Amino acid sequence: MHYLAKETRYDSMPYRRCGQSGLLLPAISLGLWHNFGSVDSLSNQKEILRHAFDSGITHFDLANNYGPEPGSAEENFGRVLAHDFKAYRDEMIISTKAGYNMWPGPYGEWGSKKYIVASLDQSLKRMGVDYVDIFYSHRPDPDTPIEETMAALDLVVRQGKALYVGISNYSAEQTQRAEAILNDLGTPCLIHQPRYSLLDRWSEKALLDVLGKRGIGCIAFSPLAQGLLTNRYLKDIPADSRIAKSHGFLKEETLTDERLQALRGLNDIAAKREQSLAQMSIAWLLKDPRVTSVLIGASSVQQLKDNLYAVKNTAFTQEELEAIDRLAAPVMM
Ligand SMILES: NC(=O)c1ccc[n+]([C@@H]2O[C@H](COP(=O)([O-])OP(=O)(O)OC[C@H]3O[C@@H](n4cnc5c(N)ncnc54)[C@H](OP(=O)(O)O)[C@@H]3O)[C@@H](O)[C@H]2O)c1
Repeated sequence: MHYLAKETRYDSMPYRRCGQSGLLLPAISLGLWHNFGSVDSLSNQKEILRHAFDSGITHFDLANNYGPEPGSAEENFGRVLAHDFKAYRDEMIISTKAGYNMWPGPYGEWGSKKYIVASLDQSLKRMGVDYVDIFYSHRPDPDTPIEETMAALDLVVRQGKALYVGISNYSAEQTQRAEAILNDLGTPCLIHQPRYSLLDRWSEKALLDVLGKRGIGCIAFSPLAQGLLTNRYLKDIPADSRIAKSHGFLKEETLTDERLQALRGLNDIAAKREQSLAQMSIAWLLKDPRVTSVLIGASSVQQLKDNLYAVKNTAFTQEELEAIDRLAAPVMM
């Protein structure tokens, strides 16, 4: 059936400024790492994407290697884009990345200009778009000079293949270097994409301060710790869950007894706040103004609906924060 976006789509989603840029991002963005590959149902993908856009999620995050098969998430997104969202391209922020292994040989991963430029060209073809809004270096390359990787990001902007650039998984020190080089080149670093959840706080040590001071946005990935910070595993391991899937990146060993007890305790705190554990975990990230957007994954429209309610209450009392920390501290990832 022909898709017409809901007229109410901008009524409830808050939009937050990405660092000191002109770009606003939705408080909740949708990532296509899992659940959008060639192994997943295309009709479910379409439903999730439609519901997201109808709910004010304007930002969709991809990478060259998302699938499985690697590349298939971009192909599927391209299909839905062509079929449903063609009229809405200017209302969307589409991002992709290059950094992880994508094709054989010495030019198929990491941070050389050769790889980065070729990879974006492939991504544009798979998605059927002329440009992406944000293009990332997906991970720092220990062997390529950071100047070369940043020059590649600057180049694709000058070629008109990306509007903004970002970095992901860079340490605080690497971020400072990258930002300085990009500034010199005249292409500011728009955004950093770190893993960040109430169970994984490496970015609090130094990175968030750097981002705040330098006016770089922050989009937190795996905010639900891949599903641990939801009601998914509180009773058992469901057959359709990420842990149960052979291609899922979340492994059963992560769900230790100690961590499960902590998750149940966190779920009780969420219930007292009249939130689901997923909602509280998203809200916990949004309490920090340096976090521009929380980048969730979802395997169903139901999960997405649950998560969207998080924006209704992002305030925490000191007692709540301390109770969360007491439970989370011993089981950090
Ligand atoms: N830059 C990087 O290196 C990097 C790395 C990883 C991810 N990312 C980005 O971040 C995005 C999100 O990562 P993620 O998928 O790990 O995020 P996440 O939000 O931490 O986990 C998503 C998973 O949690 C479960 N879930 C979500 N909402 C739920 C709810 N309300 N109730 C119960 N279960 C719920 C689902 O698991 P089930 O599938 O089991 O239902 C879903 O697939 C990715 O798509 C990607 O765009 C970037």
